[in-house]
Amino acid sequence: MFRHISFAALEYSINRAYQSRLRQRGNNPEGVFWRNSSSQLARFETLLSITKELSPKIKTRIADIGCGYGAMLSFIEHSNYSDNILYEGVDINRDMVKACWSKFPDKRHLFRIGRNAQAEVDFSLFSGTFNLCLSNNISAWEKYIFGNLESSWKKSRYGLVLNLLCDDKPNIRNQIYYANRRTFIARATKLFGPTHAISTPNVSSDVSFIINKQ
Ligand SMILES: C[S@@+](CC[C@H](N)C(=O)[O-])C[C@H]1O[C@@H](n2cnc3c(N)ncnc32)[C@H](O)[C@@H]1O
Repeated sequence: MFRHISFAALEYSINRAYQSRLRQRGNNPEGVFWRNSSSQLARFETLLSITKELSPKIKTRIADIGCGYGAMLSFIEHSNYSDNILYEGVDINRDMVKACWSKFPDKRHLFRIGRNAQAEVDFSLFSGTFNLCLSNNISAWEKYIFGNLESSWKKSRYGLVLNLLCDDKPNIRNQIYYANRRTFIARATKLFGPTHAISTPNVSSDVSFIINKQ
């Protein structure tokens, strides 16, 4: 119960921040706090290439958790991944989901408000979902992250692929959460199973983590 109340408080503040950012900057990388599109796209490329490598299927069903205004779907549609990915996007923020609906009027059914996939998917992907953090309580934020990963884990047949900014030790500065690569791997391994990481190519300090079901 307490856990749900504190998670709701964390989400309330990030929801407000994303809402006002989207209103100010519009449907573009700056509207979801990315510095530019190249780091946003480099993150997508890494998560999708890992997913492709791990998937035993020709058509892989993915959930984009924290889909923002739908940039990953645009990226997929203009890439070689388009034939092999079955996409759905979810976001806690109503305005983000509305932005997806207007960006993809024929594909509204692919986007909804939520925290995890509606039905089982092969992989759940998270790009930048846990970067913005409007609390100074590292332990509460990490509990929030792992709580969210746990609920997506149950919905993901083959596993989770996510990115986080990383530093020498976990910290929150300028409202951005930095994980520690080793600590994150240890905790995810204990909770879910073997976890691997690669430094996200072309994105400084960003690490892509792979939690693969055995
Ligand atoms: C930095 S933005 C990235 C958006 C998108 N992934 C991209 O790269 O363009 C993070 C997004 O995650 C959403 N988000 C944050 N926490 C979430 C959660 N627990 N479940 C679903 N969405 C979440 C936010 O509302 C926001 O739209």
